[in-house]
Amino acid sequence: MHITFCCAATEAQPWLQDLRAALPGADISLWHPGAAPADYAIVWAPPQAFFDQQPQLRAAFNIGAGVDALLRLKISPATQLVRLDDAGMAVQMAEYVCHALIRHYRECAAYDKHQQAGVWNQRDIAPRSRMPVGIMGLGVLGERVARTVAQFDFPVNGWSRSPKSIPGVQCFSGQDGFNAFLAASRVLVSLLPATPETQGLINRDTLSRLMPGAYLINVARGAQLVEDDLLALLDSGHMAGAALDVFRTEPLPTGHPFWTHPQITITPHTAALTIRGESVAQIAAKIASLESGKPVAGLVDRSRGY
Ligand code: NAP
Ligand code: GLV
Repeated sequence: MHITFCCAATEAQPWLQDLRAALPGADISLWHPGAAPADYAIVWAPPQAFFDQQPQLRAAFNIGAGVDALLRLKISPATQLVRLDDAGMAVQMAEYVCHALIRHYRECAAYDKHQQAGVWNQRDIAPRSRMPVGIMGLGVLGERVARTVAQFDFPVNGWSRSPKSIPGVQCFSGQDGFNAFLAASRVLVSLLPATPETQGLINRDTLSRLMPGAYLINVARGAQLVEDDLLALLDSGHMAGAALDVFRTEPLPTGHPFWTHPQITITPHTAALTIRGESVAQIAAKIASLESGKPVAGLVDRSRGY
């Protein structure tokens, strides 16, 4: 079995070493233009030339959860696309969202300022019932986040394409449930994939439907947010703030207003990083399943876009 590795901006040698240890019978090498045809590929943001030259691939494993970059390429329909299925990302996403939520709820920014000014000043805590959290996307990551937020006794709403039932979470689905979901939420978290339907979904209209003093946590993809609409609603006072990990242009350009906005906290797309060990173990197990004709989780449905 021949496996090729083509992951932009990823140091290849440690991956090749771990993959060879996990799949001792396989011939595993770094892709280069003109490389021999492979059975399986491990990819992140490969060039179009990669798929043009490897139309025989049985499957390509994306070393991330989001497949938006992959689906912009022309890929043979014979190649199954497989995304990472948690592989250590769900717990990171849960801790990131809970940290952002609790930092906002417990007014940590105000206490930081108090400390700088040498001020000892206890503030009241608002009832949690006034901080319902709405999570868009209840997939592998969103469900874990919803369950974790519920552990802190915040009311939790969830929204997905198909109906769900998750203990402790009021679930809404589809376009019919969207406005009711927004109206019931003060904090909005996005864990939706980037698809034509979710492009620009976080905009003036949708944010205005949230309870006043709303807070946005975007950990999904930057193209979902209309940035100027967020800035306008922060100015108007409808939005209290935002924690943003993803942006339309990454890295966030120098001079972008988000860098210095007092109500916006940014991080450089680090909410949930790919963990090499867990990812290699998952990919090796999935290759073994495919080789023995068994089904695997995390197959991408190209018509849905995720
Ligand atoms: P997933 O398992 O595919 O879940 C996607 C969820 O979104 C599903 O619940 C799906 O509904 C829902 N959904 C999709 N389109 C929808 C629509 N039009 N309307 C309503 N709901 C819709 O994905 P995941 O593994 O949880 O990952 C989510 C996203 O997180 C990724 O696509 C990626 O962009 C982002 N991510 C970011 C980071 C970071 O570091 N910032 C790291 C990893 C991932 P159904 O359940 O009904 O299908
Ligand atoms: C990171 O953003 C991922 O999609 O895994």
